[in-house]
Amino acid sequence: MLVPPPPFLLLLLLLLSWPGGCLGAQPPHLVFVLADDLGWHDVGWHGSEIRTPHLDALGAGGVRLERYYTQPLCTPSRSQLLTGRYQIHTGLQHEIIWPCQPSCVPLDEKLLPELLKESGYVTHMVGKWHLGMYKKDCLPTRRGFDTYFGYLLGSENYYSHERCVLIVSKNVTRCAIDLRDGEEVADGFKNMYSANIFTERVVDLIANHQTEKPLFLYFALQSVHDPLQVPDKYVEPYSFIQDDKRRKYAGMVSIMDEAVGNVTAALKRFGLWDNTILIFSTDNGGQTLAGGNNWPLRGRKWTLWEGGVRGVGFVASPLLKQKGVESHDLVHISDWLPTLVKLAGGSTNGTKPLDGFDVWKTLSEGKPSPRKELLHNIDPIFVDPSPCAAVRNSTSSSSNYISWEDSIFNTSIHAAIRHGKWKLLTGNPGCSHWFPPPSLVSESKALSSDPPTKKLWLYDIVHDAEERNEVSEQHPEVVKKLLLRLQHYYKNSVPVFYPDDDPRCDPEGTEAWGPWM
Ligand SMILES: *[C@@H]1O[C@H](CO)[C@@H](O)[C@H](O)[C@H]1NC(C)=O
Ligand SMILES: *[C@@H]1O[C@H](CO)[C@@H](O)[C@H](O)[C@H]1NC(C)=O
Ligand SMILES: *[C@@H]1O[C@H](CO)[C@@H](O)[C@H](O)[C@H]1NC(C)=O
Ligand SMILES: *[C@@H]1O[C@H](CO)[C@@H](O)[C@H](O)[C@H]1NC(C)=O
Ligand SMILES: *[C@@H]1O[C@H](CO)[C@@H](O)[C@H](O)[C@H]1NC(C)=O
Repeated sequence: MLVPPPPFLLLLLLLLSWPGGCLGAQPPHLVFVLADDLGWHDVGWHGSEIRTPHLDALGAGGVRLERYYTQPLCTPSRSQLLTGRYQIHTGLQHEIIWPCQPSCVPLDEKLLPELLKESGYVTHMVGKWHLGMYKKDCLPTRRGFDTYFGYLLGSENYYSHERCVLIVSKNVTRCAIDLRDGEEVADGFKNMYSANIFTERVVDLIANHQTEKPLFLYFALQSVHDPLQVPDKYVEPYSFIQDDKRRKYAGMVSIMDEAVGNVTAALKRFGLWDNTILIFSTDNGGQTLAGGNNWPLRGRKWTLWEGGVRGVGFVASPLLKQKGVESHDLVHISDWLPTLVKLAGGSTNGTKPLDGFDVWKTLSEGKPSPRKELLHNIDPIFVDPSPCAAVRNSTSSSSNYISWEDSIFNTSIHAAIRHGKWKLLTGNPGCSHWFPPPSLVSESKALSSDPPTKKLWLYDIVHDAEERNEVSEQHPEVVKKLLLRLQHYYKNSVPVFYPDDDPRCDPEGTEAWGPWM
């Protein structure tokens, strides 16, 4: 007769067979903190005049990502974070999802929170969604999050939680609230600053996480996107900053830093920290028009220059094998999905083909990154909304001069690709100046001297992160190889989905921005 094995043996077998078993018995809690529009030069460890003691300490005790890339804009980065796929594969190559566009991340994409839920996680989201909301099926609560508290559009007033939008077809500007708890409009938070109410919710979720299940917490801060609003007391320490926007922005970074400090303190206080992996990331480069700064990198938010795409980020966790190090390996925001699902002991079965790589061994052990190439984007209908140079003459740049390069890839198209140390940009990459921090009043901005007709650049980005030494003429064979890669991606991209505004988005008569279909 078979004797059933004693319970402790069963437990042991269970622990050993757990796919994430190398880390410990329990899959780790995963906390992803996403800042909005935080620039390269806006954190302490990059020499900023803005003080970020909590972020500095977390990064210094973990792995700082110094060659980490995001997309140059909100919706694109967020879509890649949650799908693990390039925009050329989701139709979201162009700009962002604007409030009245009937668009969201395609519903046949399986998102990170769904995958984590399937592997047994409790999933919470707090903050900015910006992945589409025109119908209910697009909402975070229908796409894998157990709970949601936040706003659905890209920006709003930090206190009133209202967003004003010009509905062009009706010639009317409509202001309405954009804040939800679950799917219900949350109108009880007027005059309460978003960083405070979001942080309070996150701390509550941590305090109430009394289950054996692992936690996935996606905290997408409103900070530090415009409008430039923050309680005065956070601005006071920055009276030495002359520039009005920069000074307010500095205060906004400070309260965000405090928010992250409060979240990590709560993880420790409620006993989760020892088994937590915390990732901090910006969603794109800083917006120099609204206080942000990416010095010494070139360009800004919206551009494919390094200032637009090289992101601030770090991983902090007692579970890291290497701590207190800087990673110089290529890591991209699309890499988090496979990385986190693997850590969760889950499977990416059910997703479409991923563009991201599992980079955990790179982060935790310093192994070379599996990522050798990175498509920054291809957007055939790009228009620079805030050109900073002489207006480019698209007629002359797209048709007057046909170079040998155009026989491989249409170099009038806004695109950029990275392979190893090389980065190739084509078309109009967006504002191409270098912007010193406005606090350095003696320095004037460094203007790009590129003629407006120029449409191809090659850089050895490992040795020339500032993109000052253009070397395409010296390396025609590299240019050719990268153009072939761009054409390969272009050929395999889905058409841009960028629908016209739908006037039914108008919240008149309802109280809030939200699903209209
Ligand atoms: C839009 O409305 C404003 C007044 O609110 C009016 O002055 C303007 O002429 C209108 N434009 C069009 C195109 O109807
Ligand atoms: C952080 O916690 C302190 C103490 O509870 C609180 O006063 C402060 O407002 C919190 N900061 C944020 C950004 O919520
Ligand atoms: C993926 O899931 C399908 C359906 O659940 C299953 O049949 C298949 O075996 C799975 N594949 C892998 C590689 O796990
Ligand atoms: C090349 O791309 C530009 C920008 O997208 C476009 O205007 C032009 O028509 C394209 N040229 C050809 C030959 O396809
Ligand atoms: C743009 O190029 C066209 C054709 O070469 C020319 O006629 C036009 O004057 C140019 N515009 C500017 C602003 O340079």
